[in-house]
Amino acid sequence: MKINFANFSLPKNGALIVAVQKGKKLGKAAADLDKKHGGIIATAIKNNPSFEAKHGQTLLITNLEFGRLLLCGVDVDAKNPEKSLLSLGGKLYSLLNSHKIKTATFAPELSDADCAKIALGATLKSYYFGKYFTKKKADELPCVENITISVSSPAKAQGLFKAEQLIADAISFTKNLVTEPANVIYPESYAAEIKKLSKSGLKVEVLGEAAMKKLGMGSILSVGQGSARESQMVIMTYNGGKKGEKPLAFVGKGVTFDTGGISIKPASGMDEMKFDMAGSATVVGLMKLLAERKAKVNAVGVVGLVENMPSDRATRPGDVVKSMSGQTIEVLNTDAEGRLVLADCLWYTQSRFKPKFIVNLATLTGAIIVALGSSRAGMFSNDDELAKKLEKVAELTDENLWRLPLGEVYDKQINSQIADMQNIGTDREAGSIMGAVFLQRHVNGTPWAHLDIAGTAWCKKGSDIHPKGATAWGVRLLDKLVREYYE
Ligand code: BES
Ligand code: MN
Ligand code: ZN
Repeated sequence: MKINFANFSLPKNGALIVAVQKGKKLGKAAADLDKKHGGIIATAIKNNPSFEAKHGQTLLITNLEFGRLLLCGVDVDAKNPEKSLLSLGGKLYSLLNSHKIKTATFAPELSDADCAKIALGATLKSYYFGKYFTKKKADELPCVENITISVSSPAKAQGLFKAEQLIADAISFTKNLVTEPANVIYPESYAAEIKKLSKSGLKVEVLGEAAMKKLGMGSILSVGQGSARESQMVIMTYNGGKKGEKPLAFVGKGVTFDTGGISIKPASGMDEMKFDMAGSATVVGLMKLLAERKAKVNAVGVVGLVENMPSDRATRPGDVVKSMSGQTIEVLNTDAEGRLVLADCLWYTQSRFKPKFIVNLATLTGAIIVALGSSRAGMFSNDDELAKKLEKVAELTDENLWRLPLGEVYDKQINSQIADMQNIGTDREAGSIMGAVFLQRHVNGTPWAHLDIAGTAWCKKGSDIHPKGATAWGVRLLDKLVREYYE
């Protein structure tokens, strides 16, 4: 799909979508057409009381000389324009697709910057992962080819959209990684994909199992040891800020497939566990975006890539391993593997980079889905200021989260009888918090936030701006965090 920007003119073909503002007030294009065609628009609105001109609501009127004419309610929420504009673009795309409209002109009668955001919304919603279909019929495929958005200065709008497109590209990149099956994306093939981002301006280092062993990373290695695939840790650095300034650090869980290991998961729904690397994919997409948009910050991304498999070499429940921090861990459940992966990633990140903060993302617990559903991620933080910033940018981007507690009462529940800690609580209580306090023991006091994205990383229904499937939750959130507070 291609999006263009142009001054308004009646299209020669396709559909024309004109704005109707709050209170059913016709935009300029609508008013002109109404006059030219003997009041058809006013009549249509009168005869369709269910069309209230709510933001994004549409009404198909009739065919005119060029094609179809549609009305679209445009009433941008002044409190949250970004959310409002993206969803307008997404809804517009869905509408065109469901009406099988290939070419359309949209006259929202908004600023150039607002129009660029609408274009981003449409682009995000147009994401389509079709590479494995070999015989889809044409009418099952997305059909929208061209959207022209009417603006006052096309060149300016085009320039603004170019910047938005970098965001869309990063999000598609993340979604592709998450959607690829686990026989295609496994630790080494994944690391090779990340390596290719050197061309975007990232420095990419890959640690294999031998290197991790040397560093004492017994925790992450214990997760991958049952798999035929070699575990990898990938470190991406981007220096766009002042020389010597402490970097921002982002850490991601990259379990390319989570069978549960010896504590094996039930068969039903296990296929979903290909998305257990979504946290890492968000970190990778974010780092790509920061580099490509030449953000004025220093940033580092660290992802732990492993496959959690049962085998004769796999970790057994009850095994004791030692993490890079020097602390010992009794692995009581091999399905609580994400925290074992992150423990070494977090320790490594703080000890090597001394970052301003660490934000980690992980599809860590099923319990967070029970608690918050799929519309908010769980946030845990040892730093109120960082937590507040994240809450603020969550609002701006509509990538929502909810803060949950840490604390002594919870922390002591992971003390083990025979090691420094165990990887699960003593019963099934407070499952997501148990994961968080475990991670906290590996950040060495660094300002840190853990985002549990098990519920938000994959969307079974689709939203205004994402088709169903991978959401790349966190890319826009963390990009906004960087823009608002660190550039
Ligand atoms: N990857 C899962 C968590 C998950 C569940 C993500 C559902 C997305 C959807 C994680 O590794 C896991 O298995 N967690 C266990 C922890 C338990 C053993 C303490 C869980 O949530 O059941
Ligand atoms: Mn698991
Ligand atoms: Zn997992």
